[in-house]
Amino acid sequence: MRFKGKTAVITGGSSGIGRATVDLFLREGAHVIMGDINVDEGTAMMSSLGDSFHFQQCDVTQEDQIKALMDYAAETTGGIDIVFNNAGAGGPRDRIDEISGNDWDFAMALLLKSVAMGIRHATPYLKKRGGAIINTASICAFQAGFGPIAYSTAKAGVLHLTKLAAAELAQHKIRVNAICPGFIQTNIFAATVGANKEEALQINAIMGQAAASVQPIARPGVPDDIAETVAYLASDATGFVTGTHILVDGGLLVGTPASWNPEAPGLLDAIVPEHLR
Ligand SMILES: NC(=O)c1ccc[n+]([C@@H]2O[C@H](COP(=O)([O-])OP(=O)(O)OC[C@H]3O[C@@H](n4cnc5c(N)ncnc54)[C@H](O)[C@@H]3O)[C@@H](O)[C@H]2O)c1
Repeated sequence: MRFKGKTAVITGGSSGIGRATVDLFLREGAHVIMGDINVDEGTAMMSSLGDSFHFQQCDVTQEDQIKALMDYAAETTGGIDIVFNNAGAGGPRDRIDEISGNDWDFAMALLLKSVAMGIRHATPYLKKRGGAIINTASICAFQAGFGPIAYSTAKAGVLHLTKLAAAELAQHKIRVNAICPGFIQTNIFAATVGANKEEALQINAIMGQAAASVQPIARPGVPDDIAETVAYLASDATGFVTGTHILVDGGLLVGTPASWNPEAPGLLDAIVPEHLR
């Protein structure tokens, strides 16, 4: 019961990483206020998750709706202690020589401004008793090739925003950190490519099979892997940790496959004649 008596606001909690975090925080004793655009799922969760759970419709591209979510959380439970700025989607997949300004603006509103405004409108409440903010970034913040360019740029922005906000808010006993998921089996990939339910299951199954060849920990990432790390960053165990991030990626970013798999071709294999290897 790490969060007994605490209020946690979680965005994007009707699916995937956010949903696993809602469930974990409820098990740990928190009041959870969840904001999402998926009203059907949010309403269904209201009837199944009990009195400690509240759903408020919230489109995180809209600042007034983020403010309303924070106000609602504080009015309903008496304050806010933890904020998980997590809602997101893959957004436009266009390359840099194709993307329109409007699509770029949408990606930034969904993935970066939403986090800034989440921090902005939670802070007046968090200042009253201190607290923790966790923002969802991504491995896409570090390297090309893992996600669309607008998405990846926004996620890199989330990391820098996390640092700067941590610096400004430490005086109010507010810690700000980020998590960087690797490939986690959720609906995000299917939603990004417009796949139907059956195709979505296929995509996640293929991700499971591919895990062993893309990262040292040879299993797919699951939403609980991220939820546990969010809880760690929200808990007193990390009371001296702020302005940083945790990669939760099964080691995906440690290096190329040759660094963990002796069978995988490495740089030497590419440049040195076979008899000299
Ligand atoms: N799954 C991965 O491999 C992965 C990797 C790195 C980062 N992430 C990030 O994790 C976060 C959660 O994604 P997920 O993988 O759980 O995907 P998901 O599709 O399962 O969940 C995304 C949630 O965000 C909600 N959402 C989407 N647009 C919204 C909006 N405008 N306003 C409010 N809610 C909105 C959806 O309804 C859904 O509940 C995202 O920020 C995503 O970029 C995911």
